[in-house]
Formats: sequence, C-alpha cells, structure tokens
Amino acid sequence: MTETLPDVPTIPQHRTTPLDPPPELHDRGPLSRLTFADGTVGWLVTSHKLTRAILADARFSARGELRKSPIRDNLANEPTKPGMFIAQDAPEHTRYRRLLTGQFTVRRMNQLIPRIQEITNEHIEGMRRHGPPVDLVPEFALPIPSLVICELLGVPYADRGRFQRDSSNMLSLNKPVEEVRAAVQSVEDYMLGLVKAKREQPGDDLMTGLVQLNELTDEEMSNIGFLLLVAGHETTANMLALGTYTLLTNPDQLAVLRSDESLVDNAVEELLRYLTIVHFGTTRTAIEDVELDGQLVKAGEPLAISLPAANRDPMRFVEADRLALNGTPTGHVAFGHGIHQCLGQQLARIEMRIGFATLLREFPTLRLAVEPQDVPMRDDMAIYGVHSLPVAW
Ligand code: HEM
Repeated sequence: MTETLPDVPTIPQHRTTPLDPPPELHDRGPLSRLTFADGTVGWLVTSHKLTRAILADARFSARGELRKSPIRDNLANEPTKPGMFIAQDAPEHTRYRRLLTGQFTVRRMNQLIPRIQEITNEHIEGMRRHGPPVDLVPEFALPIPSLVICELLGVPYADRGRFQRDSSNMLSLNKPVEEVRAAVQSVEDYMLGLVKAKREQPGDDLMTGLVQLNELTDEEMSNIGFLLLVAGHETTANMLALGTYTLLTNPDQLAVLRSDESLVDNAVEELLRYLTIVHFGTTRTAIEDVELDGQLVKAGEPLAISLPAANRDPMRFVEADRLALNGTPTGHVAFGHGIHQCLGQQLARIEMRIGFATLLREFPTLRLAVEPQDVPMRDDMAIYGVHSLPVAW
C-alpha cells in the first residue's frame, strides 16, 4: 500500500541555470523519498545505474492505471486505451511493440530522409520570406515534426492544415481546457477516419501497414496513430528549439559544429544527453516489494525517474555538466531504456540531424533576437524546452 508521510519533499523544479537540471536532484542522493502531485509518497531516482536497472526490470510497471505523476498531470491514473502501449506492460506491450517495430523499418526511415529535407527546406524558405526576427518555435521547430508524422502515417496533403491546427491546439498551453479537449476529440476522430480511408485506398505508409496486418481493431490503430503524434511531435520540436538556443548561447560549441558539419550526429547525441527534455514524465510503479540500493521499495509505491539527473550523473559521465559536441557520448537515457525505449528514436535523430545542419548551413549568421534571459523556458511542462525563440540572421 502507498502511504502518506509528513515532510517528504516534492520534486525539485526550480532551475538556477536554464540548461541544467535543478541542483537539488543530485543532492537528494540516488534513491530518496518523494511526494507525488496527489500527495502519495514514493521515490525519486537520480542515478544512471538505478535508472537503467529499474527501466529494465518487469517488477516496475508502466501501466497507466497505476501511474502517479510527480507534477500536476491531468492524465495520471487514467485507464489506458487499447493500443496505448507506452502505458502497458508485457505481454500486451510486447504484442503492440512487435507490430510497430515491423513498421519502423530502415527502408521506411530511409524513404523519409528526402521528404524531411524537403520539409525542412520549405520552412527555411518560409523564414526567409518572413524576414528577421522570426520565432523559431512556430515557424520551424513545431511544424517540421508534425509534418514528418503526417508523412509517416500517410495523412493526405489536403488534411494537413486541419491536422496541424488540431495538434497545435491539443498541445497548447494557452487555450481553455474545453478547446484542448475538443482538439483531442478531433484528432481522435481524424485518426479513426484515416484508418478507414487507408483500408479503402492503401498507400505506402505506416497506417496502411497496420491496416494490412489484419491484427488490430480500428480503435487500436487510431490510438496508435494518436500516440505516435503525441510522442513524436512535441519532443522533437522542443529538441530542435532548445537545441538551437543551446548552440546560440554556447558560441564555442557552435563554432565547433560550424567548422565540421559531419559532427552533427555526435552533436545530436550530446544535445540529447545534455538537455534531456523528458524531464519529469518517466514514472513506474513497483508491483512487488523490491530491495533497491539497500532500501525497500514496497509494492504499490510509485517511482519518478529523473532522466536529466541520470544523464548528468558524474559516476557515469566524465565532466557530466559540460557540453562537448565533439565528444562521443554513449549510453545516455534521453530516449529511456528497456522495453519502452523510444520507438521513434531513429526518426527523431534523422529530423534533428537534418534540422540543425540545414539551419546552420542556411543561416551562417543565425543569432538570438532577444537577450538569452528573455527566452521563456518550459520549466513547468512535462517536456522541457522554450515557449518561443526569436532569432535573427
Ligand atoms: C527527440 C525526440 C524524442 C525524445 C527525447 C523521446 C523520448 C522518449 C522517451 C524518454 C520514451 C520512454 C518513455 C518511458 O519509458 O516511459 C519514449 C517512448 C516512446 N516514443 Fe519517443 N522521444 C522522441 C521522439 C519520438 C518520435 C519522433 C516518435 C514517433 C514518431 C516517438 C515515439 C515514441 C513511442 C511510441 C514511445 C513508447 C514506446 C514504448 O512504450 O514501447 N518518440 N520516447
């Protein structure tokens, strides 16, 4: 059973510098007691070693019904819809994941490369037409991943306006809750319609691939489409925008990357580690008593796994707090670890490599159009990043 204890702290949220996780995270030690948003007391995990151990251990469940969030989250504790395998355990998760892995093939990813380059070029042209200053978030970082998901799923061109409008309303912070709900409903309805359309008119896309398996219900397939949109849109967008902010505020590192574009693969990996934008969202629940690091985690207790702290763990990374784009970073957990490790990671990498390389190549004098401290940070959101990023060239 979960318990309520007095004086157990909540998760540290306040950053003293925008690109570094709150310093108290490591001060709390590798495994410490934590009060979750609804008052439940569980655990906070900050070490790289424990993070990997927990995420690879079936005694820690990802099931949505058990989920507690360390920050306010309207979706915590919700029943998991069919197909939402990010919030399921084996064997349900295994089945969906296997079907999806068969769709994220090297061939399909390679096919997407020229389209991702084209989409990126179109947005660079849009920025030029607009002229400086431009807010990089709505003009570059958000639409590119959204259009890439459209390509992946096979959303027809004619529908993309509606699709982008709904997904941006759905992910918006500033809209009233009814509008957000309406947008969620609209995306769900759209996905269901897309499944039916692909059955009648197959294409060379992921939704068609799922339909042709004849193994999933329409509801499962539309929820999977929804999951891919939500998981792949804001994450990649925030990496593009926050990554650009990071480059522009670290001129020595920007110069390293500008001097040798072939470093972009390393740069993406290091930015993933250094920025770790999924900063609160990774949680698990113990389904039996487990001894961890000399402490007893009881069945039913939730764990918040701090991926940013794990990726800055000095026991795992030499000079963990230094950004080094020409290093060879390996073993970061920015995409998670274990059976839920990000399904879209190869696609995300391709988008980021093309996005950063093209942006820097096309705008050799790219710079912030405001003071760095005036860029609004998303510190209270499940995905870290910037709300807006005015740039000039
Ligand atoms: C830079 C961009 C991205 C980051 C940092 C990221 C991060 C993550 C993380 C940390 C997880 C693990 C969650 C957990 O264990 O609870 C995850 C899972 C997932 N991601 Fe990503 N992601 C990114 C892009 C994408 C893209 C582009 C897609 C799809 C097109 C995608 C689809 C998914 C899916 C479906 C899962 C659930 C996998 C499972 O449960 O088996 N992600 N991602």
